[in-house]
Amino acid sequence: MKNFKRTTVTSALPYANGPVHIGHLAGVYIPADIYVRYLRLKKEEVIFIGGSDEHGVPITISAKKEGVTPQDIVDRYHKLIKESFQEFGITFDVYSRTTSQTHKELASEIFRTIYDKGGFVEQTSEQYYDEEAKQFLADRYITGECPHCHAEGAYGDQCEKCGTSLSPTDLINPKSAISGSKPVLKETKHWYLPLDKHEDWLRQWILEEHKEWRPNVYGQCKSWLDMGLQPRAVSRDLDWGIPVPVEGAEGKVLYVWFDAPIGYISNTKELLPDSWEKWWKDEDTRLIHFIGKDNIVFHCIVFPAMLKAEGSYILPDNVPGNEFLNLEGNKISTSKNWAVWLHEYLKDFPGKQDVLRYVLTANAPETKDNDFTWKDFQARNNNELVAVYGNFVNRSLVLTHKYFEGKVPTAGELTHYDEETLKEFANVKTEVERLLNAFKFRDAQKEAMNLARIGNKYLADTEPWKLAKTDMARVATILNISMQLVANLAIAFEPFLPFSSKKLREMLNMESFDWANLGRTDLLAAGHVLNAAELLFEKIEDEIINAQVQKLLDTKKANEEANYKANPIRANVEFDDFMKLDIRVGTVLECQKVPKADKLLQFKIEDGLETRTIVSGIAAYYNPEELVGKQVCFIANLAPRKLRGIESQGMILSAENNDGTLAIITPEKLVKPGSEVK
Ligand code: 2FM
Ligand code: ZN
Repeated sequence: MKNFKRTTVTSALPYANGPVHIGHLAGVYIPADIYVRYLRLKKEEVIFIGGSDEHGVPITISAKKEGVTPQDIVDRYHKLIKESFQEFGITFDVYSRTTSQTHKELASEIFRTIYDKGGFVEQTSEQYYDEEAKQFLADRYITGECPHCHAEGAYGDQCEKCGTSLSPTDLINPKSAISGSKPVLKETKHWYLPLDKHEDWLRQWILEEHKEWRPNVYGQCKSWLDMGLQPRAVSRDLDWGIPVPVEGAEGKVLYVWFDAPIGYISNTKELLPDSWEKWWKDEDTRLIHFIGKDNIVFHCIVFPAMLKAEGSYILPDNVPGNEFLNLEGNKISTSKNWAVWLHEYLKDFPGKQDVLRYVLTANAPETKDNDFTWKDFQARNNNELVAVYGNFVNRSLVLTHKYFEGKVPTAGELTHYDEETLKEFANVKTEVERLLNAFKFRDAQKEAMNLARIGNKYLADTEPWKLAKTDMARVATILNISMQLVANLAIAFEPFLPFSSKKLREMLNMESFDWANLGRTDLLAAGHVLNAAELLFEKIEDEIINAQVQKLLDTKKANEEANYKANPIRANVEFDDFMKLDIRVGTVLECQKVPKADKLLQFKIEDGLETRTIVSGIAAYYNPEELVGKQVCFIANLAPRKLRGIESQGMILSAENNDGTLAIITPEKLVKPGSEVK
């Protein structure tokens, strides 16, 4: 492995379009902060870059909804997000924003350099245009009927009802969300980054030279590369963003995913106007991007291709991408208010930042999606932080105060208990380091907690409180060793639980921490004076947890009501109209995923007469294999239509839960294929 001189750590820039929640913290900011704190403790040269992502269409939609400007929206959320991160001890060296002047200039400059080198291709395509509002429409600004499930109000990029990804021209009866008028197709020119031309080196660089990347990250890159890369537009027709800095580009801005990652560089430049380049252009600098899984392709493929096309930047050495964190079994959703918002947590649990940091790391979605539940939060606090870590620290300190007036006693001869304990704990440093170096934060934290378990077992085995009547020399040895363990714990936990480590450092009267000292058994000299013991953690009672659970139940109920209101029983239809629908039962003969369409499954259905093909947007809820052999109900006389180039001859019926999950309708007993459903 190469020896680098310094490390640039970036964490995904959150959209300043809403507050941040536990999913953000667990997926990106806590792991990044742990890593940076660890490197700082090792006295390595490191910078930690954060900031808000303030462009993109959704911000303009929020602004329109509220009747304010996009700048108002980003000003509000940038402030709130920045404060939340500060409160949780995320120690960015800089937290700036993509509406800063430095960023606008640098993003334009990078675009211009690539442009001048011939690194883009210009292409003209037809896009929807609103003649009343006199503007091109972003995909999200076009709504219409979903060609797939026929729900009204599907967006030009996706139908939120059935989850199918769409392009605006797929919509039936498209409407502009700005004026309500029918949009027309009009030619428009854009600049594309020809990713196809970058494919060869990307393949070599990722698939051959970075096999050590996390399997989820590597796997996603591989599947993109195996599907073949396509040119990607890096400009948009929009009035919110950084103007495309070339002639003839009036009314066009840089695509948000072009400018956002450049934000990492501009924020570094803002922090270090004279020396930023060494953090981005020196081959001895190691670049690490912390991100969530929806950002993998942008950080592993698109941004590296941009940097390569520019020509003077380094590429990331690793991209520790996390999977998603769910909340009480459901996907976190900003629009459904299904989240634990950081600013609300801080109000409800003042001073308990470390508890959340601990639980989110213990449950970090490092290799697969994970679930946050309030019960687990309570259990980890009460059974681990309080009962293991807090308990050991408290007992050691209280006993030292009781028997030795708060001064670390002198250790005497060691018994096998002492030696066993010291042996067990001697490996902790190497082990925690190995795990942190491999970005395995969950396991690393577990290892640190193990140190407290060792300590607790030691006290339970040696029972110094019983020896106090007979053998004070022995008590002195036990408490000396215990206090060394406590001091080690304070260091080992600093990257994970910085607030508690600080508190503990004050109790221990230690001036500073140094990772190099981890594992030493002479951290506190005999006679060292300790400060008063305070509780590090406190038990969280059932009623506090029940109140949080209730809050979520209320949200669920409100969502159900809103859902019902938004989706009321439709107007009556005449019996004859109903009879026009021909619903049949069919048997699934084959079922497979549709390539390049996450949501779609392609069925071959035996319908009694012949086999027909039906495409259905249920891939998120079923594996194709589990449907083969099942009977399904389908509309047999729906006019055929093409989805992703495949003609779908009908529609499979399913029931939709109000969280959007789907369940296929199947007859309660086996019936003959082709049977009518009435
Ligand atoms: O997914 C997101 O929230 C994006 N705002 C992340 C951007 S990361 C970087 F490119 F700035
Ligand atoms: Zn749909």
